[in-house]
Amino acid sequence: MQTLDLIVGSQMGSAEYVAEQLVESLESQGISVNLHEQPELEACQQALWLVVTSTYGAGDYPENLLPFIAALNDKSDLSDLRFAVIGIGDSSYDTFNHAALNLAELLKEKGATLLLEVAKIDVLQPDLPEDTAVAWLPKFIECIA
Ligand SMILES: Cc1cc2nc3c(=O)[nH]c(=O)nc-3n(C[C@H](O)[C@H](O)[C@H](O)COP(=O)(O)O)c2cc1C
Repeated sequence: MQTLDLIVGSQMGSAEYVAEQLVESLESQGISVNLHEQPELEACQQALWLVVTSTYGAGDYPENLLPFIAALNDKSDLSDLRFAVIGIGDSSYDTFNHAALNLAELLKEKGATLLLEVAKIDVLQPDLPEDTAVAWLPKFIECIA
């Protein structure tokens, strides 16, 4: 069975809710998930990560992700890591989904492999973010098969 770390960046709970729906869907498809809602780098030991994060400020990371990002900045080599990122943002901001995009760049700089283009969910769209995220999952599952 595949196991992945699901890392959540969320300030008001939307990304957290999306992540919880993803856990249900992934586990029903035989993928085991370690959910990190207060992520600590040391606890994320799998070679496969799925990150779900919102964006705050002017394109900043949500607060719960800041210690994780600081630890990542100090880490030199993540070349064994494969990952994908789902961003949840609001397209009325110029910095639409910048936390998700910046995190993907940071992981790539550290040598990790981005499996799919960053999924940029827009809370202004009529579809529920969790439905859009779950609809995106088959592409991800195909990549990790
Ligand atoms: C103060 C504030 C700043 C925000 N800044 C951004 C931003 O720069 N870019 C973006 O895409 N979304 C931005 N958003 C939208 C949030 O990312 C969006 O509402 C998201 O669903 C929040 O998820 P959360 O509840 O998991 O924190 C901002 C929202 C607030 C309230």
